[in-house]
Amino acid sequence: MKSSPTPAQLQKLKAAAKTAAGRAYAPYSKFHVGAAVLTASGKIYSGCNVENASYGLTNCAERTAIFSAVAAGGKKLKLACVVVYTPTKTATAPCGACRQVIYEFGPDVRVISVCAGRDEIDVSIGALLPGAFGPADLA
Ligand code: THU
Repeated sequence: MKSSPTPAQLQKLKAAAKTAAGRAYAPYSKFHVGAAVLTASGKIYSGCNVENASYGLTNCAERTAIFSAVAAGGKKLKLACVVVYTPTKTATAPCGACRQVIYEFGPDVRVISVCAGRDEIDVSIGALLPGAFGPADLA
């Protein structure tokens, strides 16, 4: 993991992810997820999961946060940290699709999952997605 957030940034990220989980649109699964990402330039973007009556169209919290960062002008987005929050007893790691999207913008990024309980996951994206396919493979 190349870059890590400062304790103050980490606190902000966790708070932003928790706030975002409160905005989740999850009437089907009732599983509320929030995510917050820290960019290499020090900005924080957050997102929640957004479900749909056509279930497969659901967008996870992690991707909502990352797409928000790109939409805010971050074509050259470089992620420094991704924080996921779920209001559960145990922490939840990002799904496979989100791992791939996280890797696109942060091949060395640190991924931290927190929850309502004490459980916490703190790993590199490389550990979550070994042997990943990414932009370098198309170069
Ligand atoms: N979900 C996320 O937002 N992030 C994940 O990494 C795992 C799953 C959402 C998608 C869906 O709205 C709900 O959690 C149940 O799968």
